[in-house]
Amino acid sequence: MNKSNLGVGCVNLNKKAKKYVNRVLNSARLSYGPFIKKFEKKFSSDHGARFGIMVNSGTSALRIAVACLKETEGWQAGDEIIIPAVTFISDANVIIDHNFKPVFVDVDPLTYNIDSSKIEEKINKKTRAIMAVHLFGQAAEMKPIIALAKKYKLKIIEDSCETMYVSYKGRPVGSFGDIACFSTYAAHIITTGVGGIAITGNKRYAGILRSLANHGRDGIYVSIDDRNKKGKELEEIISRRFKFIRPGYSFRLTELEGAIGCAQLEIINQILDRRRKNAHYLIKKLKDLKNYLQLPWHPEYAGHAFMMFPIVIKKGAGINKSALVNYLENKGIETRDMLPLINQPFYKKMYRIRQADYPIANWINNYGFYIGCHQKMGQLELDYIVKSFYQHFKKKNKKVR
Ligand SMILES: Cc1ncc(COP(=O)(O)O)c(C=O)c1O
Repeated sequence: MNKSNLGVGCVNLNKKAKKYVNRVLNSARLSYGPFIKKFEKKFSSDHGARFGIMVNSGTSALRIAVACLKETEGWQAGDEIIIPAVTFISDANVIIDHNFKPVFVDVDPLTYNIDSSKIEEKINKKTRAIMAVHLFGQAAEMKPIIALAKKYKLKIIEDSCETMYVSYKGRPVGSFGDIACFSTYAAHIITTGVGGIAITGNKRYAGILRSLANHGRDGIYVSIDDRNKKGKELEEIISRRFKFIRPGYSFRLTELEGAIGCAQLEIINQILDRRRKNAHYLIKKLKDLKNYLQLPWHPEYAGHAFMMFPIVIKKGAGINKSALVNYLENKGIETRDMLPLINQPFYKKMYRIRQADYPIANWINNYGFYIGCHQKMGQLELDYIVKSFYQHFKKKNKKVR
């Protein structure tokens, strides 16, 4: 067994990735070029969108998504965006960065995604969008979200940073929102080091997103290849290529990340198969702990890519989370909290959040954690994880069936 494979994620640098990276190094072309273009085209079309803009993180993708809709829809400071009460901190951060207010909605006790039955009560005159987050690798319940967005004329931003190549009722995640954002940061399903992508079916949004990621530059100039154009077209480019038409960001990334991403797109099915097999193996083998632990579950129609393996200690089970997590960590099995947000010091203070108003998020924040089930975990690692769980429960004199 390889203990370094017991982390929550892994890095995928296969021979193809190294070959492609070397191709970039030998070409000395680091700026927006063939690899990023290829990744953008394939990834966005695999997720049902015509346009993809690769940027340097999932957070950057979210930030330009919000900025784009702010510009096109005329959103004003103080407007509200609905997000789940359990999610990664950057969702709330990008909202407050734009002077909007994140409005938290409790999550579902089985899938841990936003509880769509609790969204409508949070909608008011200032609500502008719902950020639908597909957490832990699992598609969120999109049908009611789409219905609410239609009813109240709201935009949908999908935060799919943890979830890719997954369908909801036959349609891929990323194809439901006005804009959808993904992350390829280390430990994600596709890992390019740093990286992210915003995808959309809307040509106007695509132009604005590209411009926002590139200092707010006039969309006529996209890459240095544009220098090869001729005649009138080139003249037009020269006259406009150093014009900046909106305040923007420097969110570009390099061909090196594009190359690593392209290599992983070629093996994405293997990555997903392995993750799903690993997760189902853990679910099967840990089932005798079902009186104590809630293991991952998803409805048939909402897929799961198992970016991680979330576990929540059941209410009243008498299991101490710190003791369990520390035991696993001492065995070399990495654990992480399940994305606590509303109890973070800054958010608690800023929005005077009463934890009791979010009973499921509160339960997850206090009793939830996740471990990895990534593609580098093999049989030995999986069996070691299972054995370690049972050892802990036996040591604590807990009945295991
Ligand atoms: C749900 C979610 N949203 C956004 C992000 C931000 O992605 P990045 O770390 O690439 O900025 C993450 C990162 O882990 C995430 O899990």
